[in-house]
Amino acid sequence: MLALINPALYNKSLIYNYSFRLPNILLFATNNIDMIHADNVDPKKHLAKMGAWSMEAPKKVLVVDDEDRNLRLMEAMLIPLGYKVYLAANGEAALSGVKDNPPDVILLDIMMPKMDGFEVTRRIKSDEETRFIPIVMVTALKDVEDRVRALEAGADDFLTKPVDKVELRARVRSLLKVKAYNDHMKSYQRQLEQEVAHRTEQLEQAFKRINMASLETIFILSRAAEHKDEDTGSHIRRMANYSAAVARKMGLPDRTVEAILYAAPMHDVGKIGIPDGILLKPARLTYEECEIMKTHTTIGGHILTTSLPGFLQFGKVIAMTHHEKWDGGGYPLGLKGKKIPLAGRIVAIADVFDALTSKRPYKEPFSLEKSYGIISEGRGTHFDPDVVDAFFAIEEEILSIKGRYKDEEESIFLQTVRRSSSAGACPVLP
Ligand SMILES: [Fe+2]
Repeated sequence: MLALINPALYNKSLIYNYSFRLPNILLFATNNIDMIHADNVDPKKHLAKMGAWSMEAPKKVLVVDDEDRNLRLMEAMLIPLGYKVYLAANGEAALSGVKDNPPDVILLDIMMPKMDGFEVTRRIKSDEETRFIPIVMVTALKDVEDRVRALEAGADDFLTKPVDKVELRARVRSLLKVKAYNDHMKSYQRQLEQEVAHRTEQLEQAFKRINMASLETIFILSRAAEHKDEDTGSHIRRMANYSAAVARKMGLPDRTVEAILYAAPMHDVGKIGIPDGILLKPARLTYEECEIMKTHTTIGGHILTTSLPGFLQFGKVIAMTHHEKWDGGGYPLGLKGKKIPLAGRIVAIADVFDALTSKRPYKEPFSLEKSYGIISEGRGTHFDPDVVDAFFAIEEEILSIKGRYKDEEESIFLQTVRRSSSAGACPVLP
């Protein structure tokens, strides 16, 4: 198919509106005849380059007027300008059209039966989705008061009836620029929000991975510190989770619960400073040896001294106070009652419960009943009564943790070293 188009005769809007008639092969008549072949050049791109084609979809203009004659008149003026024109004969139809197929600009009559232009404007401008659509009030009213009312309702511009074609084109074009800018800004804002959400998600994931790595590092280092004393790493995992569960039950904030979970495994890190002759003694400890053994609390506090806030400082507090007793009979400072930091009071019960219910070289695990009995007896003497109550209130969770972290096989190292049934036993230590 072949066509000859002279832009002097066909303005660009006409070409646009009848774009579906573009031939496969087009001869475009200008001062310089230019031949375009569809296989080589996209005719649309070529026309756009010539300024006779808009690559964008046609802008949508909604005309609202209760008089059919006015609607047709506006339509006849707008279509040649290249706009896609929608018509609405009343306010309700206009609102429905705006919702279903948002236009780029609205030409709105003021004086209409039932819902007038002021009300239509107010409704469109009060909706977050449609408030950026420019509205031109088309009115015969010249009264300043009416114009002020229209502006207050949210109108963006005015056209006076009878509408002048040149003025209409200028107003619509100008408001479309504003609309395009607003659309661009909205799209940019959406992109920014998506980007921020994406980056936040990435940061949260990275933070989680770092936290997991930190926790695992703590477990491994704590296990190394306890390697010669405890036979498995499950003890520190269990008692850390018991401690966090009790802390949560006591209503402590999530961040504190997490800090206790991270810090509790380090409670006995000071044992690294206890001589092997005492730590691994294959017989009951003497009084003097027990006193040295007790210093694992202060050694741990010294090791964990840091100026950084966070769970390491919690670790220091726990290392220093997990052997304090509610009645003041504990060590190293003999603190009493609430003078013992809560984290220390919580870890104390978790540590003792796990020691009672676990196998040790010098004892078989105690039954749950016997262990619960010992904890109950210690309520108000060894342990903070509130912590004991919280512990028993989450018995199911405690047992679930106990089941999740079972003891591993005792290491060959410990099997070799601990030949005596009383090895490492110290009456003041759990
Ligand atoms: Fe300890």
